[in-house]
Amino acid sequence: MNKPIKTLTFPGDKSIAHRLVLLSLLVNKKILIKNLPDSQDVCSSLDIVKTLGVEVSKIEDSKTVVLKPLDKKDFGKEEIVLDCGNSGTTARLLCGILANLKGKFKLIGDESLSKRPMERVVRPLADLMGVNISSTDGHLPIYIEANGKTKATDFFNQTGSAQVKSAVLFAGMAAEGNTIVREKTLSRDHTERLLDYLLFTQQNGGQSACSTLFSSAIPQVICHCEQSKIGWHSRITDDCLEFCVPGDISSAAYFIVWGAITGKKLEIENVLLNPTRTGFISVLRRMGAEIEVQIKEDVWEPIGDIFVKGGNLKSTDIQADEIPSLIDELPILAVAMAFAKGKSRVSGASELRVKESDRISCLVSQLKKAGINCCEYEDGYEICGENKIISTELESFNDHRLAMSFAILSKCSKADIKVKDRDSAHCHKRIAFRVKTHTLYLL
Ligand code: S3P
Repeated sequence: MNKPIKTLTFPGDKSIAHRLVLLSLLVNKKILIKNLPDSQDVCSSLDIVKTLGVEVSKIEDSKTVVLKPLDKKDFGKEEIVLDCGNSGTTARLLCGILANLKGKFKLIGDESLSKRPMERVVRPLADLMGVNISSTDGHLPIYIEANGKTKATDFFNQTGSAQVKSAVLFAGMAAEGNTIVREKTLSRDHTERLLDYLLFTQQNGGQSACSTLFSSAIPQVICHCEQSKIGWHSRITDDCLEFCVPGDISSAAYFIVWGAITGKKLEIENVLLNPTRTGFISVLRRMGAEIEVQIKEDVWEPIGDIFVKGGNLKSTDIQADEIPSLIDELPILAVAMAFAKGKSRVSGASELRVKESDRISCLVSQLKKAGINCCEYEDGYEICGENKIISTELESFNDHRLAMSFAILSKCSKADIKVKDRDSAHCHKRIAFRVKTHTLYLL
């Protein structure tokens, strides 16, 4: 029997961290955040709230921060430039959040973020919610002249993007009345869980998987919270909101796939287990991997442990309705597919084309280079398993998820595969350290 390797823990989940940091622009209480990841993307959100006047103090090992709320929410007439760096989540969520403030804002980003589509978030805010917001030919810079008021709306989230959904919901907080977002398949629901937790309201009944309902006035409600919602990872007291960010499930995914392919036993502790993020685990199980999940706490978000025991992987198909729950894990699942028996197919995944890279053509071109039999479709790809992987150098196109996936591919094969531009994994540089301390040299 394989000896279990040491238990792995991960830095805080990036999606959750962004939301908690940006929340500081809305609430009138201190926010204490533990296990905040120091990834570049989250630093972009942190720098922006600082620019806007949130006092940020780091304590202990600097993984804990305290955010003191804004004194004023009116920024006058002068334009404030906010740099979102490489972070799409920062840029898109911010559009909805800034609608709650008063002022003129210009959102900019790096070269890669400046190529990514922004109309998906600008259109609903401008056309349905009355926000004075515009993009530059569909991209950054985005200009917002906010007056702290929006119109409530009932919005169908066509792209299935959780960032767009979150922007609309955040903007809905400045409206009188309820804002509803409908989705065909529920995308990651961290924003609604967070606001729901703070508001103590129930999600819209009936079709809760496809719609979300909020009333406005969050800051006031927070001040009148009761004591009943206290978990180890979150606590609301009279003057403070406290959160401990659960481990990043998307980062854990690389190691879970590594365990599933190699049969090495793995334990992962205190990780986010939100079902809108764990779709890749269902897929891996369907492929034959033995993975156990144990939820330890479910107050604000479900959090717990994962046990990977390996298995013999066989091919599978992933279709549109599963995509939102595993959108970021498709590159690493492609690696699992390359080691599985049979031919796998991913469809309904055209959103992959507008991520940090065109993750369909970049992924397929590099897998081919490594000797993997695969082909590209407009909305996905097909991958044949059990290939003879060849030594080569792969490009990661400055896309950290591709870099990490290729690192696992290299680790699982006997070939000598080098990954170019590995620096793009800087967004996860902590993991590299973690990995080293757990004797798993990946990056
Ligand atoms: C995110 C949503 C997803 C995901 C991204 C983070 C979020 O993007 O790919 O890494 O935190 O809401 P889309 O909203 O574009 O699908």
